[in-house]
Amino acid sequence: MLIPATLKKHNYNLIFEIALLQSQKEFANKVNKGKKYTLFSGGIGNGKTYICDFLCLKMCIQYPGIRGVIARRTVTSLKRTTQKVFLDMLTKFGLWDFVEKFNKSDNLLTFKNGSEIYFIDLEDITKVMGMELGFAYVDEAREIKESVFLALIGRLRQKDMPLQCLLSTNPDTPAHWLYKLFYENPDDEFQVVDAKTNENTYLPESYLSTLDKVYHGIYKERFLSGKWVAFEGLVYNEFNPSVHVVDGFDFGDRQAYDFYRAIDWGYTNPFVCLWIAVDRDNNFYVFDEIYIKNYLLPDLVRLVKERHVIPYITTYADPSEPQNINYFASQGLPVEPAYNRVMPGIQLVKEHFAINTETDEPKIYIGRNCKNLIRELQLYRWHESKEGKHEKEEPVKLDDHACDALRYFIASFKRGKTDFHDTDIIQLQGLRSYE
Ligand SMILES: Nc1ncnc2c1ncn2[C@@H]1O[C@H](COP(=O)(O)OP(=O)(O)OP(=O)(O)O)[C@@H](O)[C@H]1O
Ligand SMILES: [Mg+2]
Repeated sequence: MLIPATLKKHNYNLIFEIALLQSQKEFANKVNKGKKYTLFSGGIGNGKTYICDFLCLKMCIQYPGIRGVIARRTVTSLKRTTQKVFLDMLTKFGLWDFVEKFNKSDNLLTFKNGSEIYFIDLEDITKVMGMELGFAYVDEAREIKESVFLALIGRLRQKDMPLQCLLSTNPDTPAHWLYKLFYENPDDEFQVVDAKTNENTYLPESYLSTLDKVYHGIYKERFLSGKWVAFEGLVYNEFNPSVHVVDGFDFGDRQAYDFYRAIDWGYTNPFVCLWIAVDRDNNFYVFDEIYIKNYLLPDLVRLVKERHVIPYITTYADPSEPQNINYFASQGLPVEPAYNRVMPGIQLVKEHFAINTETDEPKIYIGRNCKNLIRELQLYRWHESKEGKHEKEEPVKLDDHACDALRYFIASFKRGKTDFHDTDIIQLQGLRSYE
């Protein structure tokens, strides 16, 4: 696609070339038709931020003096993703010559033709309240409330400007306001383009195969196939591989961490041991797992002892097999019976996966090597009643081995550290889940 544009202060044409994906072309064409609100939905990495940022850049060049907003819910994610993609694009296309100034403290980019982009977080909508905008782009729009979206589009009224609102997002549940607006009863002004992750031919093959291994079940449908499906019946619907799963950890300063292990016993079912580091803010890093069937206790002791020979605060284990606990202890591997009440434990695990709205971070991260834990977390379900209702009281005893080990650890750790009791009802206050 060739973009000619005349810059006001420099009287020459700016022409550069960009090779768009099929879905990105479709999106650009829809935006060009002049409808007001255009959503790019679909799988992670399908190229949505890239095309939206590009179209914002194009508007800045084509409409001298335009004022636009590029936004995401939190400032951390904005800077790490959307804003970074935009600034990298300026470098890639050699466009910094056309930038007058990038004021980092205000996050305001001013072009030499008078156009302006404010990179803003939408945590506090008052930031946009005084503005008259010529365009707006909200990345990962599912994270924001409908009221924030409505307040933002109310600012689209800069005279003689395209007044376009672009949105991009991963899918969410069909109950989400975005789905209702763009899919269920779309008004003439609302249009949408969907694309799966693997439609982005710029993604390396190795990245796609890693995603394929990390995502399972409904998660795969939602985050790779880009379908708006509910996490109906899933216990840990706060878990999101793209947030909680990381390539690895560097525990360089060992003194800054405490180390724990957590065990779920099994012979015909898998035996699971998780290795967990805890930092001084009580964030958890699950950095290794054993997940094996048909191993006898002496072999299990050896395997667990051999791996990561470091001092441990303790090893928690399923209390329902005291003879195993005694055997491990007799072999020089002391094990503490874990706290095993299911519902309070599950609540605590959920609380740790939820994103804290202040820090924009969860309390737990999992290494990509812990592939069985990652898989089980996406498959672990609530029991379904005969009427087809998901009773959020009892999980199905399937795909629960690594999930149980994680629950033993978190619940036992919390019980040891805080005045958390059996009867406590833990509220998810100030925390955001993905469902
Ligand atoms: N037209 C294109 N030309 C070159 N590279 C592209 C193009 N479209 C996307 N890419 C590259 O593909 C990768 C993913 O694109 P992008 O970050 O836009 O995806 P995304 O859908 O926003 O991902 P996420 O779901 O993680 O937010 C990036 O490395 C980006 O540079
Ligand atoms: Mg993106």
